[in-house]
Amino acid sequence: MNERLDNLLNRALGELASSSTKEDALKVKAAYLGRKGDLAILLKELGSLPPDQRKAAGEAINRVKDRIEEEAGALISRFDDAEKAERLSRERVDITLPGRSQRPGKAHPVTQVMDEIEAIFTGLGFDIAEGPEVELDYYNFEALNFPKDHPARDMQDTFFIGPDVLLRTHTSAVQIRVMESQAPPLKVIAPGTVYRRDSDITHSPMFHQVEGFMVDKGVRFTDLKGILTLFLHALFGEKTPVRFRPSFFPFTEPSAEVDIGCVICAGKGCRVCKGSGWLEILGAGMIHPEVFKAVKYDPEACTGFAFGLGVERIAMLKFGIDDLRLLFENDIRFLRQF
Ligand code: FA5
Repeated sequence: MNERLDNLLNRALGELASSSTKEDALKVKAAYLGRKGDLAILLKELGSLPPDQRKAAGEAINRVKDRIEEEAGALISRFDDAEKAERLSRERVDITLPGRSQRPGKAHPVTQVMDEIEAIFTGLGFDIAEGPEVELDYYNFEALNFPKDHPARDMQDTFFIGPDVLLRTHTSAVQIRVMESQAPPLKVIAPGTVYRRDSDITHSPMFHQVEGFMVDKGVRFTDLKGILTLFLHALFGEKTPVRFRPSFFPFTEPSAEVDIGCVICAGKGCRVCKGSGWLEILGAGMIHPEVFKAVKYDPEACTGFAFGLGVERIAMLKFGIDDLRLLFENDIRFLRQF
């Protein structure tokens, strides 16, 4: 019995020593210590031994059993430790790595310019008004002294929704809505979206304008010049040259177009200013007496000026963008630059 036990122990220790995985070690342990294992078989044989040998044999079997249990247990916990160490190093978090930062969103370049224009005018005491984008012919044309069938309507190619309903072609419609509901004195700007049947590198079917107007007793053309010069200097810099050219709008008399010295070539002449050194930036004029009559103001008692500018045009000049359509393609690589 003792010899068999010694052999069994040696075999078990040898098999444990050559186990390369936890599973191998568990199999060896089960093969010797399990209910049908080699030691269980020896235990069953105890009964056939002479009674005086049973006690010593039983003790010897138990010693071998304890020894195998001890060796197998130590080996299995070594495998467990190694596996745990391996998992920890695999799952280790390198806290010295910089975090993945979120890129903060920001306003669209057109919105940035709108905000800047609004800030300049509210700083000068102007209020902000809004009007509908789906507008009546009356507010967009009729009350602004564009009689029906007047050729000036062709200046703005219009999207009609019905005979008298259209997408507003300019923010000048808001002038009428504000003057209809409020008495002078007024100092108002009206930013908003407008629509025209237009599409090329400097024209888009949907674009933005900011209208501005001031009505009071004794408002003069010099007030218009002063306010617009101040505004353009705030937007493009103190040294930017500003000039007023005679022009025509049905709702202003006299009318002017306002140019600034080309911001791209500093007035020397380039592709953007078509060699002239000047860029047209807005339309303006003294509000026409016919417009005052339409809103039931007395043209003898008050005067006023109005102006309207294209926001995309200004964004193009400020940011050096040479195709207006880029502003509406929503390409994030383009928008991130501003
Ligand atoms: C007007 O719309 C007048 N309502 C402006 C005005 C207001 C004059 C008050 C007098 C008194 P105009 O059609 O020129 O004017 O347009 C004004 C500006 O809008 C232009 O200078 C240009 O910058 C911009 N604009 C016109 N059409 C487009 C377009 N299709 N896409 C982008 N910008 C445009």
